[in-house]
Amino acid sequence: MTSDTTATTPTDLAALTSELTSEVAAATDLVALEAVRVAALGKKGRVSALMGRLGSLPADEKKSFGAAVNALKAAVTAALDARKAELETAALDARLATERADVTLPVRLGPVAEGRVHPVSQVLDEVIEIFADMGFAVAEGPDIETDAMNFDMLNIPAEHPARQDHDTFYFSPGADGSRLLLRTHTSPVQIRTMSTQKPPIRIIAPGRVYRCDSDQTHTPMFHQIEGLVIDETTHMGHLKWVLEEFCKAFFEVDAVKMRFRASHFPFTEPSMEVDIGAEAIGKPGQWLEILGCGMVHPNVLRNCGLDPEKYQGFAFGMGLDRLTMLKYGIPDLRAFFSGDLKWLRHYGFGVLDVPTLGGGLSS
Ligand code: DAH
Repeated sequence: MTSDTTATTPTDLAALTSELTSEVAAATDLVALEAVRVAALGKKGRVSALMGRLGSLPADEKKSFGAAVNALKAAVTAALDARKAELETAALDARLATERADVTLPVRLGPVAEGRVHPVSQVLDEVIEIFADMGFAVAEGPDIETDAMNFDMLNIPAEHPARQDHDTFYFSPGADGSRLLLRTHTSPVQIRTMSTQKPPIRIIAPGRVYRCDSDQTHTPMFHQIEGLVIDETTHMGHLKWVLEEFCKAFFEVDAVKMRFRASHFPFTEPSMEVDIGAEAIGKPGQWLEILGCGMVHPNVLRNCGLDPEKYQGFAFGMGLDRLTMLKYGIPDLRAFFSGDLKWLRHYGFGVLDVPTLGGGLSS
């Protein structure tokens, strides 16, 4: 072995170079390589020790010795860099081999399989999917409304008997005597839309509504979906077509029997209630009421700043909870809002069961 203290000749330095480069080559991981580097080039390393001897050499030897040690240092440094790159590549390859993901394996569900989507949320997604396919946009309005939006603008003045049917939850009156309320239907979203958008308008507005009412078929909070189409030519034929297409798509049947009964809503003229033949849900022989609809009343158009001589259209409103009960055979409305996990596991949907028309709404 070469002794560093005596290594001064070119032969000695060449031997030291080859000794150090073979130590570099022998290092099998980055930690070992670092130890080799410190032992050679570190402050107290062998190459540094040679440099330290420079001062004690006679002047004529200094230059050539310094150059030779520098060359040695460069050779060792180059060997260290090359080995380091080699070991890093090998370490990365080893890591990639252990962390390989087989993307062809099925998704592991874990907690996703435990969670359940509430049937009303699922049905809301189904309904939005169907109407979005027909070119409807989704509109929203606040749950807390003014008397004007919930009633007056919809052609339901203070003394109108329809107000009594709504069993409204009112807030305490403000200083000016005006009262806010929890909206009793999604129809105020019609007003908000027509007051801020120019026709053509084609929207649905899903949301929570509130009425002071509670029994097996009524809960103080429930869900409705409003529909509104306004332009210059839309007529009742369009209304019937839209509702029929909706019912076929929603109940996933090729044909559905529908009955339009004359009815009365202050905000539509004429007004109708719509029943479907219960064979659509596998119970022939009965009619089931599913929604109210009609042509938007000229007063309502006028209240929103639209000229009823120029614009016309239809509106409809349906109960989302009721649609859900009918489609999925759920008997008691109250269970929807009781937060019972056993019920939700039974009637709920998997997180990955996203309804699409292409893939089949519920399958
Ligand atoms: N707002 C009505 C209700 O809550 C439902 C309704 C009926 C909405 C007819 C409409 C409509 O847009 O045209 O009972």
